[in-house]
Amino acid sequence: MNQEARPFGLPRGLDRPPKLPEPTLRGDPITADRYLSRAYAEEEWRKVFMRTWQVAGLAYHLKEPGDFINFELGAESILCVRGQDGQVRAFYNSCAHRGTRLTAAEEGHVERFVCPYHGWQFDAAGQTVFVPNEEDFPQGSPCGRVGLREVRCEVRFGLVWVNMDPEAPSLEDFLGETVVRELASYRIEDTIRVLHMTADTPCNWKIITDNFNEAYHVQVLHPGLLPYIEANYRNCQFDLLPGGHNRGWFPSHNPSVLHDSEEVADHLAALLRQWDLDPQAFYGRENHAKIRKAVQRAKREKYAAKGYHHYRDYADYQLTDYVIYNLFPNTVLSIGPDGTQLLRPRPHPSGDPERCLFDHWWMVHPIEGQTMTPSPAGGPDLPVEDAPHEVFCYGEKSLGTTADEDLSIAKMQQEGLHSAGYQGFYLAHQERRVQHFHEVLNDYMARP
Ligand code: FES
Ligand SMILES: [Fe+2]
Repeated sequence: MNQEARPFGLPRGLDRPPKLPEPTLRGDPITADRYLSRAYAEEEWRKVFMRTWQVAGLAYHLKEPGDFINFELGAESILCVRGQDGQVRAFYNSCAHRGTRLTAAEEGHVERFVCPYHGWQFDAAGQTVFVPNEEDFPQGSPCGRVGLREVRCEVRFGLVWVNMDPEAPSLEDFLGETVVRELASYRIEDTIRVLHMTADTPCNWKIITDNFNEAYHVQVLHPGLLPYIEANYRNCQFDLLPGGHNRGWFPSHNPSVLHDSEEVADHLAALLRQWDLDPQAFYGRENHAKIRKAVQRAKREKYAAKGYHHYRDYADYQLTDYVIYNLFPNTVLSIGPDGTQLLRPRPHPSGDPERCLFDHWWMVHPIEGQTMTPSPAGGPDLPVEDAPHEVFCYGEKSLGTTADEDLSIAKMQQEGLHSAGYQGFYLAHQERRVQHFHEVLNDYMARP
């Protein structure tokens, strides 16, 4: 297969993401206070969440001037709105008069934001354009003088990103070259969000990021993945990236070496038939390792005829494998051939360090002729259309099999961290992304 780089793609013949040199870790102790203490959480809010780029929402929700989304992060609320000039800007949702929130809506369309308290009006560029009794301000009319406080905002990969730090590096510099190049190659901007869930969850947000920063737990918590995803660390690849980000690569569409069966499991068999491959031809463990390449060849040959046009520029590994990008601090993008999951814990609006809001999005590439798409982690198929936002408490409803399995340990770990017997972490080499995350967190926390 040819190796030439295409405008949006990676070199076609790549069998895995390029291995990158890793920073040396210091071995900082990982103390329990970071999961438990309100004082730590408050400092973390200022030093980490107010300084890093966060995904506020989807760009396709801001099609027309006046379309807005309201992103809640901790106790903060940020309005992202498309202006008359087409540019998307973000503002704190706090009136320039006396601080009232301008809207409680999660998204919508406005000609102007009108404050419900005294009726000040703001345009999509954040300017005050009307106030009642304008002549009664001895310091001068607010119109043209004061406006909404702006938040840094960029649109990239079909996502709207915000950063509350006016001095922050650009989004591209923050993410770094590797992440930018690889995310761009997946064309997330062409996807539709078909699952949108948020669960109020009884653990610190870092319990969840720690979980996504290692795959050591997969063989224990997610045995159901082993028939079609490799999870043994020897056959996967983990890379620490600059800026506290990291990447995990999991060769998929083949049973894990940990999967103890001669059979091709039903789910994988169905995937093979979809690409006109006979699962019986791969019976027996010695044949399992051939499945992934066979699927890649079949997809390369037939993607256009089957309506999978987004495969056109994919590298070989992207046709079959899952890659997880953990973007510092809390944005997790787990990307497979047909879509991207965002799995993200947000600090809780109450400020309680022992709670968080966990978001699960599934964004899929529409396939010609398909109106339904498989759910990312069990459950019935989903309609290929923009999903309503489901908000609930953890336990009331499934977040998908794999996410449920991950969260099943969250409360138990949170509780265990309270123990006088907690001794810090004793990490395997394959868990070094956890250590890396905490060391970068420590660096942020050490800043003035
Ligand atoms: S607080 Fe908004 S108009 Fe008074
Ligand atoms: Fe997991």
